[in-house]
Amino acid sequence: MSARIVAVANQKGGVGKTTTAINLAASLALADRRVLAIDTDPQANLTSGLGLKGQAAPSGTVYQALTAATIPDFAAYVIETQVSGLSLVPSDRHLTGAELEMISLDHRETRLRELTHQLLGDYDYIFIDTPPSLGLLTLNGLVAADTVLIPLHSEYFALEGLADLVTTLQRIRASLNPDLGIEGVLLTMHDGRTNLSQQVSRDIRDFFKDKVFDTVVPRNVRLGEAPSHGLPAILYDVKSRGAEAYVALAKEILGRDSLASRSTHG
Ligand SMILES: Nc1ncnc2c1ncn2[C@@H]1O[C@H](COP(=O)(O)OP(=O)(O)O)[C@@H](O)[C@H]1O
Ligand SMILES: [Mg+2]
Repeated sequence: MSARIVAVANQKGGVGKTTTAINLAASLALADRRVLAIDTDPQANLTSGLGLKGQAAPSGTVYQALTAATIPDFAAYVIETQVSGLSLVPSDRHLTGAELEMISLDHRETRLRELTHQLLGDYDYIFIDTPPSLGLLTLNGLVAADTVLIPLHSEYFALEGLADLVTTLQRIRASLNPDLGIEGVLLTMHDGRTNLSQQVSRDIRDFFKDKVFDTVVPRNVRLGEAPSHGLPAILYDVKSRGAEAYVALAKEILGRDSLASRSTHG
C-alpha cells in the first residue's frame, strides 16, 4: 500500500486547518494507521500543538529539507510524536524566509512532492498542513498531494475567498498536478444553534455537493485548549465533542477507503 498524501489547505487563517491536521492524523494513528504529518507553516502551530515546539531532526526541519541545494533524504527530517504511529516533519520560524529562498532553486514547485514521494511506502497517510496564503509553500503542498482537504469556518461567510482557492486548484490541475482530487470539504467551528452556521452549511452543500464530509466539527473549547498542552484532543480529553468529531471524521475516511478498495479489487 502506498500512502495517500492529503494537503490541508484554505488561504484563510483561523479556519481549523492545523486543528484538523493534528486531530485527524492522531485519530488515524490511533486506529493503527501509519501517519506522517508535515508542518509547512512558518508559524509552526502543528509542531507546537504536538508538543514539539523547537524540536528538529538531526538534519533539521522542513525548512532545511525544502531549501537544500539538492533534494535530500526526507526520512532524515522525521521525528516521532507522543502519539504511537504518528510521525512529524517539524517547522520553525526559519521557514518564513523559505518562499524567497526557493525562488532561485530548481524544482521550486515540486520540491515537497519529490521529498514526500520518497516515503510513500512507509506510511498510510501523509498530511501536509499549509500556511494561510496561496504562496509557494501552499503550492508545494498542493503539487505534492493526491487530494486536498478544505476546512471551512461555519460562522463566516465561508464561500467568500473560496473562488481564489478553486482557481488555484484548477491551475495546478492544468499544469503541475493533473490528478489532484478533493478529499473533502470540512465544516468546522459549527454551532447548529445559530442561523449563520445553518445557512453556511446549506450554501456549502449546494456548492460542493457530495464533496462535503458528513462529519461536522462543532465549536468546542477542548479543541482550542489541547494545543497549549501539546496534545491532540483525543489524548487531552477523549470524551470531548471535538475529539469525538475528529474520530468520526477518521472513521468516515477509513470507511470510504475500504469501500473504494473493495470496488477496485472486485
Ligand atoms: N472546532 C473548534 N472549536 C473551537 N476552537 C477551535 C476549533 N477549531 C480550531 N479552533 C481554534 O481556533 C484557532 C484557529 O484554528 P487553527 O486550526 O489554528 O486554524 P488555521 O490552521 O486554519 O489557521 C486555534 O486557536 C484553534 O485552537
Ligand atoms: Mg494553521
